[in-house]
Amino acid sequence: MKKIICKDYEEMSSIAAFILAEQIRNKPQSVIGFATGSTPVGTYKQLRELYDQGYVDFSEVTAFNLDEYFPIRQDNDQSYYYFMRDNLFNHVNIKPEKLNIPNGEAADPHAECARYDEKMAAYGGTDVQILGIGRTGHIGFNEPDTQLPLATNLVDLTQKTIDDNARFFASADEVPRQALTMGLNGIFTSKHILLLISGEAKAEIVRDLFSGFVTTQNPASLLNLHSNVTVILDKEAASLL
Ligand code: GLP
Repeated sequence: MKKIICKDYEEMSSIAAFILAEQIRNKPQSVIGFATGSTPVGTYKQLRELYDQGYVDFSEVTAFNLDEYFPIRQDNDQSYYYFMRDNLFNHVNIKPEKLNIPNGEAADPHAECARYDEKMAAYGGTDVQILGIGRTGHIGFNEPDTQLPLATNLVDLTQKTIDDNARFFASADEVPRQALTMGLNGIFTSKHILLLISGEAKAEIVRDLFSGFVTTQNPASLLNLHSNVTVILDKEAASLL
């Protein structure tokens, strides 16, 4: 995995935004896997600025988001559907029909997962997959376990993740207990994985990520097996390396 250690969050965000902008300039029909969480917010802000400056055009881009809470209404301001529109999609010229996010309102979540994988496969996977990492080492919402799903799946969130994400909700009780997440296959079929990591709270999981071992108990560690991963992290996240 290629590692870029940045002086701060701003630098991490602008490097990530430039990599994405270059990807889209070189291939206007790029398929981009988008992620949520607080980490990529700065990247999306910089991408919006690059769009405003006329540097990048999203009109041919197709988006596949990593995950979504389940169940959750799309108009809930904590849904990832809402997050992506608020942080990026409403501010650039990406076409609504090219946006794909697992449907947190689906009546049959398993059928929704199968539909999502079929659609992604029809595109041949993503050109770039943006990823964050949870303190558990989760990627998407693939939490540590003895085995990890290949397919897009309905998963139970760990207590640690519920507690971490409670800061966005009125209380921990309101955090959905499940999520729809792209599985390892959806993530690994990406041609280029861009893993963004910021802050001291991630330092331990970053140390484990670069420990030289892989384990399903740290899902992100499996990224060591992919041939094209760029990890962009700030000094705080890299402090235990
Ligand atoms: C969330 C998302 C992940 C994200 C991670 C880290 O729950 N499902 O895709 O990478 O947790 O979030 P943050 O960037 O806020 O630390």
